[in-house]
Amino acid sequence: MTPTPPRHVRIAGTGSALPPERVTNHELAARLAAQGIETSHEWIVERTGIHARHFAAPGVTSSDLGTEAALAALDAAGLKPEDIDLIIVATSTPDMVFPSTASIIQNKLGLAGCPAFDVQAVCSGFVYAMGVATAMLRDGAARRALVIGAEVFSRILDFSDRTTCVLFGDGAGAVVLETAEVPGILAYRLHADGNYRDILCTPGTVAGGQVLGSPMLRMDGQAVFKLAVKVLGDVADEVLEAAGKEAADIDWLIPHQANVRIMRGTARKLKLAPERLVETVHEHGNTSAASIGLALDVAVRGGQVQRGDTLLLEGVGGGFTWGAVLLDY
Ligand code: ACO
Repeated sequence: MTPTPPRHVRIAGTGSALPPERVTNHELAARLAAQGIETSHEWIVERTGIHARHFAAPGVTSSDLGTEAALAALDAAGLKPEDIDLIIVATSTPDMVFPSTASIIQNKLGLAGCPAFDVQAVCSGFVYAMGVATAMLRDGAARRALVIGAEVFSRILDFSDRTTCVLFGDGAGAVVLETAEVPGILAYRLHADGNYRDILCTPGTVAGGQVLGSPMLRMDGQAVFKLAVKVLGDVADEVLEAAGKEAADIDWLIPHQANVRIMRGTARKLKLAPERLVETVHEHGNTSAASIGLALDVAVRGGQVQRGDTLLLEGVGGGFTWGAVLLDY
């Protein structure tokens, strides 16, 4: 019997969505000043590289943004919703406790029957979802998957805490993944270490009809910073080795968009030229699970990322979680 050739998985199209309200650092600083909280454009830019972020209007949910990004990705791939047979959504700001945001997006896309579920790995969610989708596609469980990162992080921000509320924004990014004759996804590696669960968390929960604990994001920024720089370097080496590649083979580094200092530090460790780094954090802030898909789509539509380029996608976030996907676009 001839052995079955390995199934490869490739990106067929990318999409993204941003809510229309763009809030600059100056505007946010003025809003916070009205509550007696001091911050400045200069502080935010110097420490993070962020200039602006988008905030969703009341009532706009992760599934709204995720559906818009998914439709854009389908359009880019020349496909229709009915061509999709798997939906995975990465989010930490789901529409509700349940059902999953993926089920809601499935319904908004007019689909029924295919598997749809959420992945919760905070800012690593997009690479986690890509890894899970790749495994399912390779295994023959599906042929075309929507991988969506969608967040309305503004809903869990404590606007009296200047150390966190200036950092985050809302948005969505999506890719259509499909089985293919040639790669595609070269390798992926995912990690978590719950010992660090307290350095970045939103610890509230719902019980007995009430919110127990704080439903607001809190973060030990310096602890996150140090760990992020280390694990992003380690997992880059790991995924390159798994694919038999070297850092010099990377055309574009597309990391989770949290802070330019972390992103540029990662590029330096890999000895990549600064212009090989895709940066969108200045315009979007940290959109958690949406950020990598959003940055990828911006780079594709902006003509930076071309077919055949080798991309390193890297995520890091609450959990503590981290992971990387190396792929030929
Ligand atoms: N405006 C003005 N001053 C501020 C602000 C602000 N918005 N926030 C903090 N400060 C002050 C602090 O009070 C402190 O003042 P002090 O020296 O008088 O005490 C000073 O600025 C320095 O604060 P630090 O916390 O030391 O600032 P740091 O250089 O560490 O930058 C930051 C903070 C930007 C949060 C950084 O630590 C960081 O980016 N960490 C990583 C965040 C990250 O990558 N998250 C990714 C994962 S996100 C996820 O998974 C959801």
